[in-house]
Amino acid sequence: MSVLWLVLALSCLVLQQVQSNKYEGYKIYELPKAKARSAVLDQALAVLSMNDTHYEVFSSGSQPARIMVHPEEQLNFVQLLDGHSLNYRVLNSNVGRTLRRQFATDRKLRNKFPYRGNGRLGTERFYSHGEINQYIEDLAQEQPRRVFVKTVGRSYERRLMKTVTITNGDGRRNKNVILVDGGFHAREWISPATVVYLIDELVNNLSENADLLLDYDWVILPVVNPDGYEYTQLSEDTRMWRKTRKPSSADCIGTDPNRNFDFHWNEGGASDNPCADTYAGSNAFSEPEAQVVSDLIHSHAARGKMYLTLHSFGPYILYPWGWTSDLPDTVADLHEVAQAGFDAILADTGTFYEIGSSTNKLYVAAGASDDYAFNAGFPISFTMELPPGGTGFDPPASAIDRMVKETFVGIAAMARKVVQKYPLA
Ligand code: ARG
Ligand code: ZN
Repeated sequence: MSVLWLVLALSCLVLQQVQSNKYEGYKIYELPKAKARSAVLDQALAVLSMNDTHYEVFSSGSQPARIMVHPEEQLNFVQLLDGHSLNYRVLNSNVGRTLRRQFATDRKLRNKFPYRGNGRLGTERFYSHGEINQYIEDLAQEQPRRVFVKTVGRSYERRLMKTVTITNGDGRRNKNVILVDGGFHAREWISPATVVYLIDELVNNLSENADLLLDYDWVILPVVNPDGYEYTQLSEDTRMWRKTRKPSSADCIGTDPNRNFDFHWNEGGASDNPCADTYAGSNAFSEPEAQVVSDLIHSHAARGKMYLTLHSFGPYILYPWGWTSDLPDTVADLHEVAQAGFDAILADTGTFYEIGSSTNKLYVAAGASDDYAFNAGFPISFTMELPPGGTGFDPPASAIDRMVKETFVGIAAMARKVVQKYPLA
């Protein structure tokens, strides 16, 4: 009996060791939005969060803030909040456990819903970059008059970056263009998932979406940062990775691809520290992935009417500028289109997006793709930050269906407004 107990106890220990991950015991706290916090507290929080091995601030701006805190710092952190009589809540009491469960579920779902190579990817689970590339190739094979795949570059680790162009198949050339991308930030898996759903809707539901394809073609890059995206799929320990995967210094890896564009590059909201999550890069377009998006933007700028880049989390629909709090001259047009998305989503599910300029609604962040595309000639340019799920960046697979459908309603409404405002010349 006692031997049995010993064996049992030992195997529990081993199991625990096997299962524990980097985020074991991390907690996520939700704090009231910035307006409801004192400046003194925010200063203290800013100082704390400079300790980036122990703190990670997940969001700020006009939504409630989420801060992930290392087990060793939790007492300290809570004392600070209590000292300022701030109402906070623990959103997640063990990030490691949440991620472990999600990875276990994702593994099961991969087996249960394999990609069958038939040009159909459902909303049951998340897909690898390779699967998404294969999926668009298969769609193009299936619908050779309507769907076109083009290799537009390679990532640092030499993954193929492919766009899919979707048309209604009438063969007319020189239509206006809507350019969409996803997967800038590695951990924001719901972004490529949404792109996959968008592709499916445009290709397989032509009757409902005919007006969106009459005078417009859609050019879509599903995963801007495939190296980072694949890295986050390796294990719980790498799940929260944000950047690219090119070494940025002797000790650190990665650049924030959304701080790497050559427009007011590194003028605010970006870091010079190669180890930081918002590292701007050694110079503008130091990252091949950002260069690929830039090339896409320029090659479609003449006919490009809307550029849309999908991120998480918000929910926000953000328009330029992100480098200054000044508003563009055409802010009324930007706001009108964003409002159409806001109204449609609110009516559909009741989700309340914040809409406004990046700097004013979220934070200053220069060198991002939306500012770049707007400056290059796209009259409408948005960053859409999908709602949070899971601990924030990691909605579970069970949330995909609901979230991508909701988002599509918004995207379709915005595209309809664009089609109406910018008819084919
Ligand atoms: N969460 C996005 C980021 O940090 C927001 C980008 C918004 N756009 C901007 N130009 N700042 O990259
Ligand atoms: Zn992002």
